[in-house]
Amino acid sequence: MTRVMNFSAGPAALPQAVLERARDELLDFRGSGMSVMEMSHRGKPFMAVAEKAEHDLRKLMNIPEDYSVLFLQGGATGQFAAIPMNLANGQGMDYVDTGAWSGKAIKEAQKYGPVNIVASSQASGYDSIPDRATWNLDPNAAFVHYTPNETIGGVEFPDIPEVGDVPLVADMSSTILSRPIDVSKFGVIYAGAQKNIGPAGLTVVIVRNDLLKRERGAVPAVLDWALQAENDSMYNTPPTFGWYLAGLVFEWLLDQGGLEAMAEVNQRKATKLYQYIDNSAFYRNPVEPSARSWMNVPFILADDALDGTFLNEADAAGLSSLKGHRSVGGMRASIYNAVPESAVDTLIEFMADFENRHA
Ligand SMILES: Cc1ncc(COP(=O)(O)O)c(C=O)c1O
Repeated sequence: MTRVMNFSAGPAALPQAVLERARDELLDFRGSGMSVMEMSHRGKPFMAVAEKAEHDLRKLMNIPEDYSVLFLQGGATGQFAAIPMNLANGQGMDYVDTGAWSGKAIKEAQKYGPVNIVASSQASGYDSIPDRATWNLDPNAAFVHYTPNETIGGVEFPDIPEVGDVPLVADMSSTILSRPIDVSKFGVIYAGAQKNIGPAGLTVVIVRNDLLKRERGAVPAVLDWALQAENDSMYNTPPTFGWYLAGLVFEWLLDQGGLEAMAEVNQRKATKLYQYIDNSAFYRNPVEPSARSWMNVPFILADDALDGTFLNEADAAGLSSLKGHRSVGGMRASIYNAVPESAVDTLIEFMADFENRHA
């Protein structure tokens, strides 16, 4: 068996130790005589899995008690609709436009009520974060939504924007668990699992409990946060395997030393890759340095006619999934928690060798 170095943007690399444990537990889950996928979500063995996962996520992220943690289906895209439906009830909503994913969130929200785009980096090709001083916030908005890390553009907010008393809602799909964050600064945090949490099919929503009491119109049951919170995310059948695997990832993260330890490694990985790119005349990263993502590093080759050769040679060297998103082209290395620092070192060595041979 050969496992490649996987730079996929999502679904993405999972820690090998987690996969090995899942393999070992697959056929007979902890003495139950069945796999975790084959048992009732309401039985004791799965309830223990569910509770431990939530407990460990709360510990990792230091989630205050007055927040609910939901384990849902429907992806971050499902939440693009759930957010206006649970929070706005037709009221105006503030959105920051920083690229492809915030754009999709905006488009979905527009179906449910008036959207005010408070700031946009579109004019500069989404290569930066709009200066907070220029944001046109509405103090009466139902919430302010932003995308802390734009997975496609590789653009990341360096810190949490200050928005006063209006609840801040964040799509953390591609940055959650990459470093410690102050959860108390947010009204809602949500993330599709398939980058830093676990397999696709699970969506994590962390919501401050007072926001569950807002007046709302009709909300589909599966997207109704209050209903799901009342039912411990089991109003309907939850994504049990994803929830279980996420729990294994949370245990692995705690074993690594938690999010402070992950942040140190992640910052080191990103810094060395950007440094290499910046010092090369052959590769270029288009993002303003203050807004560069720790998780998704796009880069373009001086001659895009070499893109295919680069990708083929990278694949042959065991470096997988480096192709940039189809909407922007070029390359992208996604270096989530489960991508070891040694894989980034190997990538840099490969890039240097490729540059020597083709520049
Ligand atoms: C930042 C961000 N938001 C939203 C999504 C969409 O998530 P999903 O496919 O889980 O709906 C993605 C997808 O990869 C993403 O990176």
